Amino acid sequence: MNISIPFNRPCLTGNEYKYIAEAIANGHASGDGPFTRRCHELLEKELSVAKALLTTSCTHALEMAAILLDCGPDDEVILPSFTFVSTANAFVLRGAKIVFSDIRPDTLNLDESRLEKLVTARTKAIVPVHYAGVACEMEAIGAIAKRHGIRVVEDNAHGLLARYKGRYTGTFGALATQSFHETKNVTCGEGGALLVNDPALVERALIIREKGTNRSQFFRGQVDKYSWVDVGSSYLPSDLLAAFLLAQLQEREAIQRKRRHIWEVYQQRLAGWAGERGVRLPVIPPDCDQAYHMFYLILPSVEYRQSLIAQLKHQGILSVFHYVPLHSSEMGRKSAARETECLVTEDLSARLLRLPFYNDLSEQEQSRVVDAVTSFEG
Ligand SMILES: Cc1ncc(COP(=O)(O)O)c(C=O)c1O
Repeated sequence: MNISIPFNRPCLTGNEYKYIAEAIANGHASGDGPFTRRCHELLEKELSVAKALLTTSCTHALEMAAILLDCGPDDEVILPSFTFVSTANAFVLRGAKIVFSDIRPDTLNLDESRLEKLVTARTKAIVPVHYAGVACEMEAIGAIAKRHGIRVVEDNAHGLLARYKGRYTGTFGALATQSFHETKNVTCGEGGALLVNDPALVERALIIREKGTNRSQFFRGQVDKYSWVDVGSSYLPSDLLAAFLLAQLQEREAIQRKRRHIWEVYQQRLAGWAGERGVRLPVIPPDCDQAYHMFYLILPSVEYRQSLIAQLKHQGILSVFHYVPLHSSEMGRKSAARETECLVTEDLSARLLRLPFYNDLSEQEQSRVVDAVTSFEG
């Protein structure tokens, strides 16, 4: 089948090649070069976070978070079953057990009303995922975490520049993680960032990111040689990737404008059809300024979804679904602290469909997608 409208297409903003050429000319292609520093400064200033550290992926930023919080075999970590494997894997790699939470039916975010019942004396962290770049109820989640002395790590893979009650997502937890994977609004192919909001965690984050060495203290002239002082790995991306990323980050407002337009066209053009067919469109609560990361449909049944995917594919349009609930996966069952019920997750994940969404999706392409969806007989 010839796909003429892909689900995602990486899009350039203008300065990517120029900056990469500069990075090569700089003679600093490895990590933490001038472009990485500029990305850090931009993120720290824009988001007002104590420290932003580029990583090779959001997966690796989550792994750094798990190490930073000293998660181990005696610990439990609460996170939604409806998320990408990395949210859980990062903590499982440290030996921690996962407590899978169900999600809210409206935003598909961790259901804060069920959260406190999942907390035990072993709970080390809560990891809310701002699904589709729509914020979780951070006030309620933060209050529960505070009451029980638990750290919050926001998985903000989808949510760069989203806000909750006027404040950026990624700034609520002790730590937060970003993704710059090619499917994200701002990308460098594969990339991520760890946002460190708790200043007490900054110094160790630098060490963990530099293979467990105090290399950054050495570069700051604080020690006369650097050595192995902690566990760690190589979590820093090449400056060539940072050069690509900087070009994209600098154009973040233009990217967000384009994506907002695409999202609103989908919303406006599909609302009538959705109402007639019992199809649900994304819900954005009034406290949330979303990141315009994706547009999804919740269809009446799994069969309806599968036939719509096939029908769109037949017309050369690629649509996808996710996530396969983690609590019922083979590894999820092995990694769970105990069995938990995630009925909303099971129901909605089976009926969700994501439509093509990328910065340069043209009006013509989007019209073809909308026409193909609304002409589907079911
Ligand atoms: C919620 C969530 N967390 C983490 C990740 C992992 O991101 P990355 O591919 O940058 O490792 C993804 C991937 O899309 C995701 O959807």
